[in-house]
Formats: sequence, structure tokens, C-alpha cells
Amino acid sequence: MQYNVIVIGSGPGGYVAAIRCAQLGFKTAIVEKYDTLGGTCLNVGCIPSKALLDSSEHFTNAKEHFAEHGIDIPAPKVNFTQMIKRKGDVVKSNVDGIAYLMKKNKIDVHKGVGSFVDKNTIKVTSKDGKETTLTTEKVIIATGSKPTPLPFAAFDKKRIISSTEALELKEVPKHLIVIGGGVIGMELGSVYARIGSKVTVVEFLDSLIPTMDGTMGKELARVAKKQGIEVYLGHKVTAVENTGSEVVVKAEPKNGGTALELKGDYCLVSIGRRPYTDGLGLDKIGIQTEKGQIPVDDHLKTKVDNVYAIGDVVRGAMLAHKAEEEGVYVAEQLAGQKPHVNYLLIPGVVYTWPEVASVGYTEEQLKQSGRAYKTGSFPYKALGRARASMDTDGLVKVLADRQTDEILGVHIIGARAADMIAAGVTAMEFRASAEDVARMSHAHPTYMEAVKEACLAASDNRAIHI
Ligand code: FAD
Ligand code: NAI
Repeated sequence: MQYNVIVIGSGPGGYVAAIRCAQLGFKTAIVEKYDTLGGTCLNVGCIPSKALLDSSEHFTNAKEHFAEHGIDIPAPKVNFTQMIKRKGDVVKSNVDGIAYLMKKNKIDVHKGVGSFVDKNTIKVTSKDGKETTLTTEKVIIATGSKPTPLPFAAFDKKRIISSTEALELKEVPKHLIVIGGGVIGMELGSVYARIGSKVTVVEFLDSLIPTMDGTMGKELARVAKKQGIEVYLGHKVTAVENTGSEVVVKAEPKNGGTALELKGDYCLVSIGRRPYTDGLGLDKIGIQTEKGQIPVDDHLKTKVDNVYAIGDVVRGAMLAHKAEEEGVYVAEQLAGQKPHVNYLLIPGVVYTWPEVASVGYTEEQLKQSGRAYKTGSFPYKALGRARASMDTDGLVKVLADRQTDEILGVHIIGARAADMIAAGVTAMEFRASAEDVARMSHAHPTYMEAVKEACLAASDNRAIHI
């Protein structure tokens, strides 16, 4: 065999799997159909969206908060072309970084669509039609996901767009209609609301970011409205039409009431993503997808003995760090090690401002499972650090077992929640009780004091500052 391991797809699942395989001494190749490495996350996902979130946040601060801080500047203006260019530069430096890491780890990169000939043979078809045949002992499929379209309105990529086009627009929309108030809808909706678009979010369920703890969605809806984002919950979209000069969206309240007709210049459809296996030739090795996903066992092995699958293309959260953990897991398993992924402790973050971050069980899940729990919350507005920066929206909510006090979930909406959630993951990984965290000294003044206070509230209703 030419290779010990071939990885198909170079997103965070694939490139991390390849690096770990190479570190463990396997002769490794990676196959990527696009010109650049890094997959959805680096090219059209995590990185470009965060680049635009950061730029638009700077603009908001300059426009709305500098004066209060005693910084007088002429009214700032958005240079959208530069904003998009900077985003492109950020993406380039990241994808170039992956190319460097492949070289450093002596991983062969094959550009083209990878497809199975049989379980040990992968054909790579490059853009110019040239075919290369590679042989391997093991294969790791990491082909990721694509945006899900509405069944009745395909992406035309002009006015009816997915996140990919929303990251690459040529102008700031006058009115951006967002279908789906999940992670993409709220992040990209925030970007455009901050830089001057009217943004309307139409969500089918009764909460924004509905997979997270209900308190988070409620608070995010409150803050989003304060930021000028119009939110329609519990609405079923019935039609989306590009009339040429505008896009018309029709929706009906699920529980009856007046139908909605919205007119905008762009409609971002962000109703989830679906696993991507086109062109992979799974039929050649007898694998059938289930709901689009590649079925895997607890060890991420498919029904074919030497073929594994990881990341967005398999069950579980569609998150870059989940894909990375799975990449490392499979590589180490191939090397005979006994790795472990704790799926309960994969944190979820929404990079709005304030940010939302969660780990562990939600209150809804605990209620449903019948587990006895207690809660402790602490609002940002009672926090000295938050008052100093004027980031007083938000709260920390800690859920703990009612008998043992073990922390079962940490949910934060507030400034810097994305970084703070790591403390929740650490505490839960070590099975800390709320009192364990409550008794640790937290530097003052920091946002993390809100976590300590929420743990104090959860362990014995003894928060100090509220
Ligand atoms: P992908 O990153 O999708 O990579 C798959 C790769 O496989 C692609 O490069 C594709 O071209 C290639 N490929 C597919 N088929 C073939 C084939 N047959 N041959 C060769 N190559 C092939 N997650 C987070 O954790 N944090 C975030 O902040 C975040 N932000 C996001 C923002 C947006 C707008 C989007 C869309 C997603 C975001 N995500 C975020 C999700 C994250 O991007 C995905 O969970 C992650 O990229 C999944 O990694 P993956 O390796 O499974 O697949
Ligand atoms: P999502 O699953 O987060 O949200 C989709 C939303 O659309 C849900 O609230 C759902 O109820 C709603 N919806 C579904 N069908 C609808 C319809 N017909 N009409 C109105 N609303 C409808 O999916 P999203 O935002 O598209 O993102 C896809 C995935 O990408 C996420 O699940 C996440 O895994 C990943 N992602 C992660 C980010 C992060 O970690 N910060 C950022 C962006 C994406």
C-alpha cells in the first residue's frame, strides 16, 4: 500500500486527523477537492464569520460607545469593501497555515475529488480531469456538510443566499431577511444589523438558538431586539421569491394569526446544514447514508472494517472542535491507543455580542430526564467588571445535581462567554460540585466572578453580590 492512512476532506476534522496520524508515525495523505485547505470552517465558516463579527463589533463600539468612554471621533463610516478584504486576508493566512502544517508533518496533499474505487483504493479527480489512484490501509472520511436549502426555494446565490454568499456580499443589505434563528442566523444577522442593515429573523420554533438552554434564547431575543433586530418566533415560512429587484418572504404564525409578508434585498436561509457525501462513491464500498449521515459505531468506524468517518458527516453536533476531537480519536485508535471523546462536554458557542456559551445539560433536558437538579444564576449587571466595560447584558446559569451538587450544565450569555465556558468544561470534566467552584478564588474584577457567584447561588443560595 502507498499509504497507511488517507483522509478525505481537509476541514478541522480531516486536517487534524491527518496531523495526528502523521505524528503517530503513519504515512498519511489528505485529499481535498477545493484549492485551499481548511474546509468549511476556515474558508466559509468559523473564521470568516468571526472576522466580520469582530470588524462589525469594532464599528458598533466606535459608533455607539466611544463617546461615553470619553473618546470623541467623527461619526465612523463602514468601508464594506475593506471589511470583506480583511476577512479574505484572515482566511488566507489561516488556510496557508494549514498548508504549512501539512508540509511540516510530511503529509501528502492531493487536490481533487476523492472517491472510493474499493475499500483500499481512492481515485482523485483533479479540476482538469486528471485521475490519480492511491492505495491505503485505512481511510478517514471527513467530507463535512453543506447548507440545507428550503424545500420550496433553492439558493439562487443572488438574493436567496446561504452563509457562504452572506460572507462575500458586495454591498451592505438594506433589509436582510434571515430564515432560521439558530447559530448562523444570529451571528450573521448581528454582523449586518451592526453595520446598518435592517435585519428581520423568522424562526419556526418558539425560541432563538432553540437547541441551547431556554434562558439563553430568551435573553438573546431580548438583547437582539434592543440591538434593532426584528424577531418573529413561531413562524412557518411558506414562500420565498426572488422578484429580480427584491426578495419576498411569506410566513404564517404556527398557532394562527396574521400572515407575514416581508420584502428585503437579501434572504439568508440558515435552517441547518446537511452532511455532504456527493461524489464519494460510498456505493462502491457498500455504505448507505442514513438521513444523509454516514453511520458509524461508538469508535467512529463505518460498517467497512478499515473505513472511519468523523465530523459533520456523522452524528452529533456540527462543530469544528467536535470534528477535531474525533479526528484525534480515530488517529489514536488506529495507533492502538484508548482515546475518549466526552460528547456531553463539547461546548457550544454563539459569537453574537453578548456571546452565548453552553456546556453540559440544558434545564429542559434535565426536566425531561426527571433528574433532580437545582439552579444558580448571576446577572452581569451585578458584576463590577461588566459595569466598568458597560457590558451589563447577560447572566450565568449553573445547573447542579440536587443531591450531590455535581455541576450538570453551565450556560452563559454575556461578554466573553466564549472563553469563559472553558472553565465550565474543566469543572465538569473533573466532576466538580458547584461548591468546589464557589470556594475557588476568582480574580477580581473579572467576568469569571459571575460563574463563581452562580455556583454560590446553586450550592446554597448564597451569592454575595446580589
Ligand atoms: P468541513 O469543514 O466541512 O470540511 C470538509 C472538507 O471536505 C471540505 O473542504 C470539502 O471540500 C472536502 N470534501 C468533501 N467531499 C470531498 C471529496 N469527495 N473529495 C475531497 N474533498 C472533499 N463551528 C465551530 O465550532 N465554531 C464556529 O464558530 C463555527 N462557525 C461557523 C460559521 C459558519 C458560517 C458555518 C457555515 C459553520 C460554522 N461552524 C462553526 C461549523 C464548522 O465549520 C463545521 O462544524 C466544521 O467545519 C466541520 O468540519 P469537518 O472537517 O467535518 O468538515
Ligand atoms: P441551526 O441548527 O443552528 O439553526 C437552524 C434554525 O433554523 C433552528 O433554530 C431551526 O428551528 C430553524 N428552522 C429550521 N427550519 C426552519 C424553517 N423552515 N423556517 C424557519 N426556521 C427554521 O443551523 P444553522 O444556523 O444553519 O447552522 C448550521 C450549523 O453550523 C449549526 O448547527 C452549528 O453546528 C454550525 N455553526 C456553528 C457556529 C458556532 O459554533 N458558533 C456558527 C455557525 C454555524
